[in-house]
Amino acid sequence: MDIISQKVYQMYSKYPFPSPHVGGKRLAELADLLNMFCIEMEFDLSGRSVLDAGTGTGHRLIEAAAAHPDCRFLAIDFSEVSLGIARANALKRDIRNVEFLQCDIVESTSSLGVFDVVLVMGVLHHLSDPSRGLAHLVGNLSDNGILLLYVYGKIGAAERMRRKQMISMLVGERMDFDLGIDFVKELGFDSFEYGWNIGADDQLTLDSLIVDAYLHVNEHLYTFDDILDLLRSSGLVGFAIYGITSGTKGVLLDMDLCCPSMPKSEAIRRRYKALSVADKYRFADLFYKPNGYTIVAFKGGGLNQFDPSTRIQRNLVML
Ligand SMILES: C[S@@+](CC[C@H](N)C(=O)[O-])C[C@H]1O[C@@H](n2cnc3c(N)ncnc32)[C@H](O)[C@@H]1O
Repeated sequence: MDIISQKVYQMYSKYPFPSPHVGGKRLAELADLLNMFCIEMEFDLSGRSVLDAGTGTGHRLIEAAAAHPDCRFLAIDFSEVSLGIARANALKRDIRNVEFLQCDIVESTSSLGVFDVVLVMGVLHHLSDPSRGLAHLVGNLSDNGILLLYVYGKIGAAERMRRKQMISMLVGERMDFDLGIDFVKELGFDSFEYGWNIGADDQLTLDSLIVDAYLHVNEHLYTFDDILDLLRSSGLVGFAIYGITSGTKGVLLDMDLCCPSMPKSEAIRRRYKALSVADKYRFADLFYKPNGYTIVAFKGGGLNQFDPSTRIQRNLVML
């Protein structure tokens, strides 16, 4: 394991994400995303195989597995501590359609096999080499498969980065997580943006969220153009941004509509319409200042199964 991966591994072993608490809050975000996707795209998930890469303590995946008892889920993570909590959570919820396995995404995932759906939610941006990790996971996607990805946004991260830098200056060179957690609480930084905002009702969960948001040892931040660069070298043929997170809100994007909440004249509408899809995304970056992107990406066969009139087709960028 490389040095950056070792640091990330040690961090999540001490502060498993999203919660070290077995039987804690039920987190429905992933189940909701899959449901929305299936309804909107008329995609039938029944009987499909799903890989969740970087499942953490499994709180989100377990709710997705509960909602789709006829799907087979494989959930991987390199942290045995997180996987232990995830297994205990699954047992407590009597979830029988998930298998948990230790695996380092940066090293290799080829032995895991091929899946209809690959989920990589909040993980790629913490890898020592996100392109390498993504290329591995694309190798696990069937030709008709669907990859769902959540990565951090750069433009919307400015305030969190400002706070993170202040904490880092106070903690100093040798990362002391416990001291950093105390400083975050003392400075009142423990209010969260989208993704961390799970309403922690116990101190250990709050500490894990604080570490992930303000003391993380490795994170990459993305703009639309950074996403384009990342996906270009991955073996995928096309992608669409399904939605973004902006502040504490989730927004579903439709690139045919010019930022619905922006006041606009006919002249602005006309000029917006003439932009390429990529430029519309660049415009949305500046308007919404995303702190995260949910991306749906495809290999060769994945695209043809969807109705050409869907929002995803309007949002599509070919690689
Ligand atoms: C922010 S958590 C996301 C957890 C979960 N996907 C969610 O959305 O709640 C990131 C997870 O990625 C895992 N991870 C980081 N680098 C990894 C690697 N190289 N191989 C496998 N898992 C990794 C960490 O252990 C951690 O559990």
